[in-house]
Amino acid sequence: MASKRIGVLTGGGDAPGLNAVIRAVTVKGIQSGYEVVGLEEGWRGLMEKKSRILSLKDVEDIHLLGGTILGSSRTNVAKIENGYEIAKKHLIDMKIHALVAAGGEDTLGVALKLFKEGANVVGVPKTIDNDVNATDYTFGFDTAINRVSEFLEMLRTTTESHRRVMVVEIMGRHAGWMALQGGMAGGAHMILIPEVEVKVNDIVGMVKRRYESGKKWAIIAVSEGAVIPDLMKDVSHSSQLDDFGHIQLGTGKGVADALANAIEYETGYETRSIVLGHLQRGGSPTAFDRVLGTRLGVHVVQMIDEGKFGMMAALKGGEMKAVSLEDAVGSLKTVEKYKYETAKLFFS
Ligand code: F6P
Repeated sequence: MASKRIGVLTGGGDAPGLNAVIRAVTVKGIQSGYEVVGLEEGWRGLMEKKSRILSLKDVEDIHLLGGTILGSSRTNVAKIENGYEIAKKHLIDMKIHALVAAGGEDTLGVALKLFKEGANVVGVPKTIDNDVNATDYTFGFDTAINRVSEFLEMLRTTTESHRRVMVVEIMGRHAGWMALQGGMAGGAHMILIPEVEVKVNDIVGMVKRRYESGKKWAIIAVSEGAVIPDLMKDVSHSSQLDDFGHIQLGTGKGVADALANAIEYETGYETRSIVLGHLQRGGSPTAFDRVLGTRLGVHVVQMIDEGKFGMMAALKGGEMKAVSLEDAVGSLKTVEKYKYETAKLFFS
């Protein structure tokens, strides 16, 4: 038996590229003399000791696949009585020397706390939202914005044919990266993100100007978390919160639906809304996300070898670096105003 064990888990919403990380941790881990244990369904796997040994055969070619072979959940250790004590005990029971947690700010927040409680934990930044700090990109984002761009392009033909306005709701609770970059690439005529408040009147004005100039159709990309102050009273989501206290967006009446109603009411132009939802996260990863997940997975094993616990593997200026988990989860990486201004030049 190999001398030491590495555990790996994937938490939060799945993101294309997770399997590339699992494969890389397993291959590099085994080559470095570790036994690799996959914990099932995020932190739940650790709390319930649901795990399996990963062999080279188990991870063969899985970087080509979306989702995560280990499953995921939004289980929050902090919500369980003596959760961190139990987590630490289970790591000892399972003889896991070091744990790799691949996730977004929630999963990485738990990883940091567990490290502070004395466990050897390292992180890998994952989320289609791209809102984790201290890394240039999170994996999953590239695949998701390629999907968004492709869907927006597909919507153009039907929207133009019917002379409609189409309001497209895109994932991104707190940060507008997906709507911004997917929208720029896919030719949205206006993009609305959580970081920049826009009034209904300004949106309606843009649509009217476009129609009056002879282009009698428009596509508006809107982040699910966008704030349109005079419209929020018409937005309602399921009252159920997840384990991390987030409301479940994409349920009930979202911002795209409310905005479409307002535009149609104010302009008289036929307006429809569509929620892209989980189609943005599904399917196989782009080459970029396969490679990024692989590089992060290899690097995080090197970090374990070097004892760099409480840290996260990150992409910085094209290179792999170890950054502090504290820097990664202290705040969210949101869209800077000047990046939105660049996109705005093309709103018309
Ligand atoms: O965190 C990634 C994400 O895809 C968000 O963009 C979205 O708001 C959320 O997950 C959806 O979560 P769920 O799949 O639990 O509904």
